[in-house]
Amino acid sequence: MHSPRLKFSNALVSLAAYVDIEGVKFVLPYKIAILLGSPRKNGNSEQLAVSFAKGATEAGHKTQTLRTHGLKIGGCIDCRRCWTNGTHCFLHDDMIDIYQALDEADVITFAVPLYFYSWPAQIKPVWDRLLPYYTPDSKVDLTRRRAVLLATAGDASPSSFDGLRRSFELASAFCKWIIAGEICATDVYGAGEITTKGDWLEQAEALGRGL
Ligand SMILES: Cc1cc2nc3c(=O)[nH]c(=O)nc-3n(C[C@H](O)[C@H](O)[C@H](O)COP(=O)(O)O)c2cc1C
Repeated sequence: MHSPRLKFSNALVSLAAYVDIEGVKFVLPYKIAILLGSPRKNGNSEQLAVSFAKGATEAGHKTQTLRTHGLKIGGCIDCRRCWTNGTHCFLHDDMIDIYQALDEADVITFAVPLYFYSWPAQIKPVWDRLLPYYTPDSKVDLTRRRAVLLATAGDASPSSFDGLRRSFELASAFCKWIIAGEICATDVYGAGEITTKGDWLEQAEALGRGL
């Protein structure tokens, strides 16, 4: 009996995983981890995340949303003991949930409010705790993932995001991630104001759909 030739691949250029069945390529869905960094439930950055997830889900991708507010995630203590107790980090806290999601994720999404022109405290320790992935004896290769920034701010000037974007871009380059999109929504201060102002949610949905 004829058996189809199956070939799995992870193309470096598009990063899209696909299965090749007798020369026909079928794109496999992405696993998308969405990290919510706002302490405000249903706030502006969460609305962006919901729209992004809607577009991605409709395109066939799988999303997992994790709210970091309320999780116990300490800052990196620079103990240089990554992987020495059988897991990513020597600290035992809720970062383990984030590690599990990141290990699996093809797309890593940060949905955050701008706080003092930078990351909110609910997300900054997540960045610092990525260090285990970038130690010489790392057990998980986190490179070649796609990264997305969804951010909101009260100020009307797009330049308010200069610091955050630069940090995101430099950190993504360090992590060897491909930036798949950045949406930085200005002039949304009140909780949920983004639902009535601008087309940010449409942009987020389109970004999710077009990954
Ligand atoms: C502690 C704090 C710091 C903030 N810093 C800034 C800022 O530097 N620039 C700005 O434009 N908005 C700032 N904002 C406003 C938030 O970025 C804005 O309200 C955002 O839409 C909140 O998103 P969320 O609803 O997802 O929490 C700040 C808000 C708080 C609570």
